[in-house]
Amino acid sequence: SQFQKGVKHLCEKAILRVPGKYILPVHERPGRAYGEDAAMRRKLLSLPLIDFAELRSSLDRPRALRSLATACEQYGFFQLVNHGIPDEVISSMIDASTRFFGQPYEERAKYMSSDMTSPVRYGTSFNQSKDKVFCWRDFLKITCEPMPQVLPHWPSSPTDMRRVVASYAKETKYLFLKIMEAILESLGLPLPAPGRGCVAEDGGIMDRLQEGSQMMVTNFYPPCPEPDLTLGMPPHSDYGFLTLLLQDRVPGLQILHGDNWVTVKPIPGSFVVNVGDHLEIFSNGRYKSVLHRVLVNSTESRISVATLHSLPKECSISPALELIDEGNPRRYMDTDFASFLAYISSCEPKKKNFLESRK
Ligand code: SIN
Ligand code: FE2
Repeated sequence: SQFQKGVKHLCEKAILRVPGKYILPVHERPGRAYGEDAAMRRKLLSLPLIDFAELRSSLDRPRALRSLATACEQYGFFQLVNHGIPDEVISSMIDASTRFFGQPYEERAKYMSSDMTSPVRYGTSFNQSKDKVFCWRDFLKITCEPMPQVLPHWPSSPTDMRRVVASYAKETKYLFLKIMEAILESLGLPLPAPGRGCVAEDGGIMDRLQEGSQMMVTNFYPPCPEPDLTLGMPPHSDYGFLTLLLQDRVPGLQILHGDNWVTVKPIPGSFVVNVGDHLEIFSNGRYKSVLHRVLVNSTESRISVATLHSLPKECSISPALELIDEGNPRRYMDTDFASFLAYISSCEPKKKNFLESRK
């Protein structure tokens, strides 16, 4: 149908109403669920702030680790500042993404694919082959490893896209590994130690993560004439260990905190970091993979770039043995990454069901 071409394409003709394809059932609309009202939505939540420079200072690290643990337990999210990635790498990523989505539909459509294993996929909505109601979002998904093999498949237009994506992918991977070292320490796990969390392999969890999977998702949300009727992304959790999210200055991301959807206050140039399903399992439930969704608005388009990091696809995911004892029984069955991904692509977005079923 015409909607398969995406919302950017749809909005190229001025539209005054949201087409029926995007209109959510009343109880799923923003502002309806969880008794939320418009005033609540305008109030922006500052996420717990983690200062990466403090994590690198031996004097400040213990306190920063405690803040990190509290954020991962109580929010499943934190805002990372002073992360050390050069401004130029960050601004080029937003800029190249803006120019990618600014291209004519035919150029973007070259990367459309229904093959879930394709190293590049351009598309719309959340899962456009399954969604009954479409989301107000177009996206470009790029597999980042193994880089020498996947890079030749990445978009070659704009001409600097591959260079920018490669440098952003390398920087975020390094940062992810540094945050994971801090996360392991905050869980009281010794570093490094062999065989932990990945039963099939030798070597420590950090070695596995080093060789692990990395997926980049660039999202584009055009202005929407009736933003209360639809969503940019439906409620979902992320599958991996951590997601590092870069957003421009336009708010839109909401997280479920307690019983409320709260809008995250953007801090340009910083990262929103969230715990994914695999880290919830690995931490035996101590750190929470929290539902989140995206609002759209009637005046401004919004761009975000998420990188999702986890173990290699052939690894199995299990709780760290050190976190299981009499007081803390094992809370999840082992699962393998491949069936996790297959399950996710076969179901509606409520991925939490999967975690529940692994208990
Ligand atoms: C997400 O990746 O789930 C959120 C993306 C966004 O804030 O646009
Ligand atoms: Fe997400």
